[in-house]
This record gives sequence, C-alpha cells and structure tokens, in this order.
Amino acid sequence: MNIAYVNGKYFPIEDAKVSIRDRGLMFADGVYEVAAIINGKLIDNFEHLKRLQRSLNEIKLSSPVPISEIPIIEKELLAKNKINEGTLYLHITRGESDREFSFPDIVKPSLVMFVQSKNLIHLEPDDLGAIVITVPDVRWKRRDIKSIALIAQVMAKQVAKEEGADEVWMVEDGCITEGGSSNAFIIKDDKLITRNSDNMILSGITRKAIMTLADDTGMLIEERSFTIDEAYNATEAFFTSASAFIMPVVSIDGKIISGGKPGPISLKLRELYINFAIETAV
Ligand code: PDD
Repeated sequence: MNIAYVNGKYFPIEDAKVSIRDRGLMFADGVYEVAAIINGKLIDNFEHLKRLQRSLNEIKLSSPVPISEIPIIEKELLAKNKINEGTLYLHITRGESDREFSFPDIVKPSLVMFVQSKNLIHLEPDDLGAIVITVPDVRWKRRDIKSIALIAQVMAKQVAKEEGADEVWMVEDGCITEGGSSNAFIIKDDKLITRNSDNMILSGITRKAIMTLADDTGMLIEERSFTIDEAYNATEAFFTSASAFIMPVVSIDGKIISGGKPGPISLKLRELYINFAIETAV
C-alpha cells in the first residue's frame, strides 16, 4: 500500500487530500524537494533539507514543523511504505486562504510527503543513455528557489516525450542553463563543464556531490556557461538529479554524443556517485 503524509497524519495515498483553497493549488505558492531512496534510506538528505530551508526563506514562509524534525516524519513514511529504492517528494505551501495574491494575515503552512518506487541503481542497459533535445528556457529569474511552479518544465518535458526524447536542456542567450529537472554537464578535453550556480539555475544537490567526487579524482572542473555548439561537440555529456543520479547523454538535438553510447568518464562518475550514495545514506 502507498501511504502519504499530510499535515501530521498518514493516509492511503487515495485518501490524502488538501483543500481546493490551498495556495499551492491556486498560485503554486510553495516549495519542494525530491530526495533519492536507496536501501530504504535517504541520500544527501541534510543537503536537501538545507536547500528546503533556503527556498522557504526566499519565499518568506516558515515550515509548519521544525526542519530538524522532518527526518523523523520521513523515516516513519519510509517504514510505513517499506520502500527500498525510489524517491521521496515533499512540499510546503502557504496553506489555505481566500484567493488573494498577497499573503493571508494568518498563515497555516501545509506539508505533504509521499514516496514513489523507481529503479535508480539497477537500470536496464537500454535505460542508461538519454536522448536530449534543447528548448528555449522560458522560466522566471529565480530558478535557485525550488518552486512548485513547474509549468514551463511540464510543457518542455511533454515536447521531449512527444519527440521520443528523455530530457530537455533549456537554452537562454545561446547557452544551456540546465535540464528540465536536472543539471547539465559536458566533458571536453578531459574537463568537466557545468553552468555556474546563481539565480538562473537550481543549485543541484547531486551536481554538488558529483563535482566533489570529480575533483577528488583530479579532474579539472569549469563552472561556466556553455553554448549549444559546445554541447553538440562535447566528448561526453550527462545530467544529474536526485531521481536520475548521473544519466549519460547519447544525443542532443539528433547530434550523436560519445558515439551514441554512455561515455567512460560519465560511467565512472556514476559508479563513484552510487558508491557515495550507498555509503552515506541515512
Ligand atoms: N528536480 N534543476 C532542476 C530544474 C530540477 O528540477 C532538479 C531536480 C535539478 C537537480 O537537483 P537535485 O540534484 O538536487 O535533484 C536541477 C527534481 C528531481 C524533480 O523535480 O523531480
């Protein structure tokens, strides 16, 4: 059975409900996190909760429970669902109110959580190697906030699906910002290149871990914008997220990357990340 958490209580997912006046529903007035689950434990959860606190601060919202108590709820949810591998989703919205854009006088934030099973480590060979297409990045300018307002990504990822692609890379001023729900990396001349993290991308937790692991191997890392042409001509490319770990890219807009197969450096970093995830999961 799939059990969800809604404001202090656990429900079968089909009975887990919030009000139609929830500001998350009316205004996407809320923020979220997705953490990976391996062996029934969470990966890099401290970093996810730190980013959650930051997103909350940026939208001037307080968590309904102290952030330090969220892991207790998460543990209970994992235990109730007996889940081994997958993702834990949570969001906090500004709760229920009349439909007034400005904040209500009395705010009762709403916290919901649920889990989804997904193979993260044990992928079929066909699932390791993603087709990417590029789309214009039409999002707002505070992409550092993990906002639940995801319609731009929903539209973009639907285009990818219709075109038989697995992920979109979003383009602004001729450069790749990030993936629809991931951070974008290319490798050229043995250097790892990924866009610098500011308000124009989400500072990915997986991105950060990969950069540390790559740095430990002595690899050179350049944090800077890179163009679509650089991506087309990369030796290897991959994207990172809590739900994909490191996913090697085999083509971008039909241009073959790394001979159409996952590249050796991407696979090595994926292996290092999986080991890190298993060793540090809590
Ligand atoms: N998305 N950039 C965007 C726009 C994202 O939505 C995500 C993650 C990332 C990667 O961040 P992290 O490594 O912390 O997962 C980058 C999650 C997985 C999602 O929306 O499902």
